[in-house]
Amino acid sequence: MVVAALPVRPVAVGIVLVGFFVWVAYLLRLGAGGAPGTLPANIKPYLTDEELEGRKVVQTGVVGLLTAVALAVGLSAYWLFLPSVQADWGERFQKESVARGARLFATTAQGGLNCAGCHGGGKGGRNDFVITVGPDKGKKVPWECPSLDDVYYRFTREEVKRIVTYGRPGSPRPAWGLKGGGGQTDQEIGDILDYFMFIEITPD
Ligand code: HEC
Repeated sequence: MVVAALPVRPVAVGIVLVGFFVWVAYLLRLGAGGAPGTLPANIKPYLTDEELEGRKVVQTGVVGLLTAVALAVGLSAYWLFLPSVQADWGERFQKESVARGARLFATTAQGGLNCAGCHGGGKGGRNDFVITVGPDKGKKVPWECPSLDDVYYRFTREEVKRIVTYGRPGSPRPAWGLKGGGGQTDQEIGDILDYFMFIEITPD
């Protein structure tokens, strides 16, 4: 059986129009209700002029004054404590960065990048290395891995960052930074540099 296609648009417009007229009729009926001078059922009588200009005006003023005082005191207290709040967060970020740096620095067995493995946990170590350039190429030699708890006495932070990022070609010192062909982001290298600051020995 073939069902004749309904004229969808005229039917929809018709339904909307009927709905609209029913709504208008309902509103008119609402508006027509109620005798003059009486309030509709959903409205309660408001305060008298005496009440409005007496008790009510004082109450409103007091609430406004208290709100203004609370804002003034609260904002000043917020500004007063802001520097120490910021310092606390700075300290916390620094601690977290050092903790991340320590994890990256750790040996492979501990899930780190094995900086600690070659560098003797920061105190310096020794690593066998097969020379890659020059007349001794292919010769296996022990190679000093410098201590790193004193690295800032030899280099600035920028220099250490460059060494870690690009490595030292021709030595066992690999490049770790993305820019040097390694796998570590600038932030991760920053964390390692913060860790060096944390383990730094005193000049004595
Ligand atoms: C395969 C062993 C090895 C690993 C792993 C290793 N290093 Fe090194 N690193 C060395 C050697 C060897 C040197 C010294 C190179 C030279 O003789 O110039 C060195 C040098 C350095 C220096 C320069 C220090 C100085 O005083 O010259 C820094 C900084 C450094 N490494 C940081 C790191 C960090 C950070 C890691 C881990 C992300 C790491 N190293 C992993 C072997 C290693």
